[in-house]
Amino acid sequence: MNTKILKIDENNIDTEAIREAGEILKKGGLVAFPTETVYGLGGDALNENSSAKIYAAKGRPSDNPLIVHISNMGALPKIVREIPREAYLLAEKYWPGPLTMIFNKSDVVPYATTGGLDTVAVRMPSNRTARALIDAAGGYVAAPSANRSGRPSPTVAKYVIEDLNGQIEMIIDGGEVNIGLESTIIDLSESRPTILRPGYITEEMLEEAIGQVDVDKTIIDNHSGQAPKAPGMKYRHYAPKGNLTIVEGEPSAVVEYINDQVETLQKEGIKTGVIATDETAAKYLGGDVKSAGKRQNEEEIARHLFRILREFDDDEVQVMFAESFPHEGIGQAIMNRLLKAAGHQVVRVTSPDKK
Ligand code: TXA
Ligand code: MG
Repeated sequence: MNTKILKIDENNIDTEAIREAGEILKKGGLVAFPTETVYGLGGDALNENSSAKIYAAKGRPSDNPLIVHISNMGALPKIVREIPREAYLLAEKYWPGPLTMIFNKSDVVPYATTGGLDTVAVRMPSNRTARALIDAAGGYVAAPSANRSGRPSPTVAKYVIEDLNGQIEMIIDGGEVNIGLESTIIDLSESRPTILRPGYITEEMLEEAIGQVDVDKTIIDNHSGQAPKAPGMKYRHYAPKGNLTIVEGEPSAVVEYINDQVETLQKEGIKTGVIATDETAAKYLGGDVKSAGKRQNEEEIARHLFRILREFDDDEVQVMFAESFPHEGIGQAIMNRLLKAAGHQVVRVTSPDKK
């Protein structure tokens, strides 16, 4: 298949191009598009054949449900069985934006879209191109992240093209995304609202709107012995091609440990990489060192993380080390993705003077 690649500026939307993309979706085809979180691979959410095509293009297991994207609150009642009070409160504060809510689904949503579940995940993105596309497509666009299953989510169109060119009708290039990590997912289908995937909308922000929320224990702890409630969270997502280890501890001890490891590995001819911060980058003596941003600026680190993992793949880096980040606020989402990328491989180092 010949994939049409179009650049669209969300501040000056080419309405003819969006109309064309909408027609592709209405006819059951697939279009990748930018959102504020990561790029999505869109299909008509109410057409089971479109959902089947999404799974095939991604190489994704079909028990892993898709998020339905809408552009306005008026679209919600048709696809859900009931709208709990919390949903209105959350929508008021955080929609459009990087938050996905899970509801009991109505009959119009095919099981092909929900991976066989009786619940449906819904998100209203804020990116203007995404919103225009949803309208042009008839209101309901199923969209997982636009990567081949198991690879880091794309934050620039280049990586969508790398993974999906030739397999879908169109890719819309809207430049680099703002947030860089997938939406926060909150389950409202059961009695207690529960976070199934951490993201830019933090636990504290959710609690500000609706009071206490639970957190699915599998988000950070790999050893809870439970299966995650979001089926997608059980897969080893965001996996780079090389081997990644997270190094925890006092900053100077972390730098020293990584420098020792890199020196040894390089002597063996192994290509190494380091995910550093602006504060430490110059202290690493070898390997391909990439700073994710200022340590205090979690938004910047979130935005750059997946791109760095992809770049290490492009450069065929074999062994990578990453600094660790606090598990609070957006840090919870950053560490959730890093831990997955590392297959939960973490080393804790103590500073030399404390030995
Ligand atoms: O930011 C995002 O959410 C991006 C952009 C494109 O909107 N989309 C995205 O979709 O990250 P995806 O398919 O890569 O991740 C969706 C996650 C999966 O872990 C899936 O298992 C979970 O949402 N999910 C979807 N529907 C669910 C449901 N009914 N119950 C529990 N988990 C669900
Ligand atoms: Mg994904």
